[in-house]
Amino acid sequence: MKNSTIAFIGGGNMAYSLIGGLVAGDCPASNIRVADPNNETLEAMQQQFGITPFPADNPGAIAEVDAIVLAVKPQILATVTKEVGEVLQNSHGKAPLLISIAAGVRTHDIERWLGGDTQAVVRTMPNTPALLQSSATGLYANRHVSEQQKNLAESILRAVGTTAWLEEEAQLDAVTALSGSGPAYFFLFMEAMEAAAQELGLPQETARMLTLQTAFGAAKMALERPESSAELRRKVTSPGGTTEAAIGSFQQQELEAIVTQAMNAARDRSIELADQLGKENP
Ligand SMILES: NC(=O)c1ccc[n+]([C@@H]2O[C@H](COP(=O)([O-])OP(=O)(O)OC[C@H]3O[C@@H](n4cnc5c(N)ncnc54)[C@H](OP(=O)(O)O)[C@@H]3O)[C@@H](O)[C@H]2O)c1
Repeated sequence: MKNSTIAFIGGGNMAYSLIGGLVAGDCPASNIRVADPNNETLEAMQQQFGITPFPADNPGAIAEVDAIVLAVKPQILATVTKEVGEVLQNSHGKAPLLISIAAGVRTHDIERWLGGDTQAVVRTMPNTPALLQSSATGLYANRHVSEQQKNLAESILRAVGTTAWLEEEAQLDAVTALSGSGPAYFFLFMEAMEAAAQELGLPQETARMLTLQTAFGAAKMALERPESSAELRRKVTSPGGTTEAAIGSFQQQELEAIVTQAMNAARDRSIELADQLGKENP
């Protein structure tokens, strides 16, 4: 990592979070380049982190780097990737690793836009808590990615949270349904708990604070204790107690089936959207 040069194409929210995590770790800011159309954004990043800015100069940013992080919106990824592909085809330097963080854009589309299946590409699926360095990211590498490049991609994405490699790209649709959309499931659950607590007579602020701290405490326990989620639940569910009354009510309403159905819907939509993005950009 200390010896790797990384170019970010797009200096928006995700690039900001990744770079913040990288420079707080062991990546020297002098190894990081950022290309973005907005000069002010780049100047602010240069002042805060010490990165090298490339205003509206994607080709300049990617010359002779080890990794290129495509950090633009999915809708413009095709245009940007084609531009990168042209530059790489005309350069005779080392072949860099391409890392896409764009939601729902398939590796074979990225390869196609690059001009052929010859480049090392890692497709990743971080989630929104990446903006707070608390992401859960799935990664998939194409056949051209070396072990060293895998380590580099993992180090970059670990700057914003935890990572998991996937054997098959299709598993990224499941990751999208799990961690990609997952924060919203928990927000929905917290929203419902907060509203129910108010109906039970608690003031709004108290309901909110106790809901959030309970969610945080439960996640922290599940992360730090060796027991499974099911085991932790059993341990806090005394026979004949209040928790058992609530869990029994959830199970009567078939909560597990509701969750499975919802995640299947998210997985199916992820496939549809990726198909659409690929078709819209030949
Ligand atoms: N935000 C999240 O929570 C999150 C989570 C998971 C994955 N992602 C993925 O991360 C990617 C980036 O998301 P983001 O939230 O960081 O978006 P963003 O804040 O909009 O950042 C994208 C940046 O790219 C710039 N840009 C536009 N055209 C460009 C070009 N041709 N060359 C170079 N830069 C260009 C944009 O400038 P303008 O604003 O002037 O267009 C903007 O500064 C997306 O593909 C998204 O799917 C995001």
